[in-house]
Amino acid sequence: MRILITGGSGYIGSHTTLQLIAAGHEVVIADNFSRSKPSVLARLESLAGTPIKHHVIDLTDREETDRLFAQETFDAVIHFAGLKAVGESVAMPLEYYTNNLGSTFSLLTAMRAHGVKKLVFSSSATVYGEQAPVPMQEDFPTSATNPYGWTKVMQEQILCDVAAADPEMRIALLRYFNPVGAHHSGMIGEDPHGVPNNLMPLLAQVAVGRRDALHVYGKDYPTPDGTARRDYLHVEDLASGHVAALDELGRTEAPVSTWNLGTGTPTSVLEMVSAFAEASDREIPTVDAPRRPGDIADSYADPAKAQAELGWVAVRTVHDMCADTWRWQSQNPDGFPDA
Ligand code: WQD
Repeated sequence: MRILITGGSGYIGSHTTLQLIAAGHEVVIADNFSRSKPSVLARLESLAGTPIKHHVIDLTDREETDRLFAQETFDAVIHFAGLKAVGESVAMPLEYYTNNLGSTFSLLTAMRAHGVKKLVFSSSATVYGEQAPVPMQEDFPTSATNPYGWTKVMQEQILCDVAAADPEMRIALLRYFNPVGAHHSGMIGEDPHGVPNNLMPLLAQVAVGRRDALHVYGKDYPTPDGTARRDYLHVEDLASGHVAALDELGRTEAPVSTWNLGTGTPTSVLEMVSAFAEASDREIPTVDAPRRPGDIADSYADPAKAQAELGWVAVRTVHDMCADTWRWQSQNPDGFPDA
């Protein structure tokens, strides 16, 4: 199929682009490079062994987005583009709602005008909110405690309502747990814009010497070692989940399908610190710090639905996640080149 990937030069979008091409799909990337660098594209083309068409557009601009659909023909869309930093969203709610919802409105309007019916949406386990029991299941209620999380809850609702109005739509809501790791080549990986929020890029920056120590946010959680646990998922497994979901949209009769993409296994902060120290053979100094507001003790998936309906299972281990992250970070200490 010919697939539009919004945000295709981003962390998850870039890894998914490679797997879609490897699976025989033709890919077109739309990205405004607000949170990624154009240099990613050259890396992708080198790894894919083929040129990759891309458009630099503002997806919140309806005319621009419609022009893209008039110029190109798409069989499906994978919608990664969006702002995703929880803390930033609290400081800049209007920008988050405008960007994340606005791009989805533009995209859906253009899809409807041009008869594109398949959409894979990049959602997040954050939609389970702060009170959800574990392991989290797709039929749990959704809620949020920050504007970023609300944009995901709202986009899921918008997509469900659009599908209810046009039952020919085939929409996959993919709820990611904690994506980490990098392509095994070390040529692409997570390159956070500004100061990272997430644990794995911070661990990598400590290991490579860009930071002195990792602050452990809270050691008084009701978990075996007192630190919070998350369902870390290798980005390559996450990418293969998108290929599987896209295939299923060609078979399912359901207008909307929701799938957790996680391993189902929780890992604590201290366990991840140890795993990263072992994989990188570097000391990882830590400093105890207070809990981070909004953090929960446990978040991990029940991945049974994706396994049963997509035949998808995460296969890479925590060691793989750390080793692949380290290869990317040590080969690219400052991330992607600016030019
Ligand atoms: C993981 C654990 C921290 C940094 C976030 C978003 C979520 C999703 C994934 C987009 C937590 C601890 C972290 C540090 C630490 N993103 N930590 N010291 O918070 O589970 O989820 O990323 O969809 O929406 O909220 O991931 O990597 O920020 O934190 O101790 O310097 O590591 O407290 O327990 P989180 P994270």
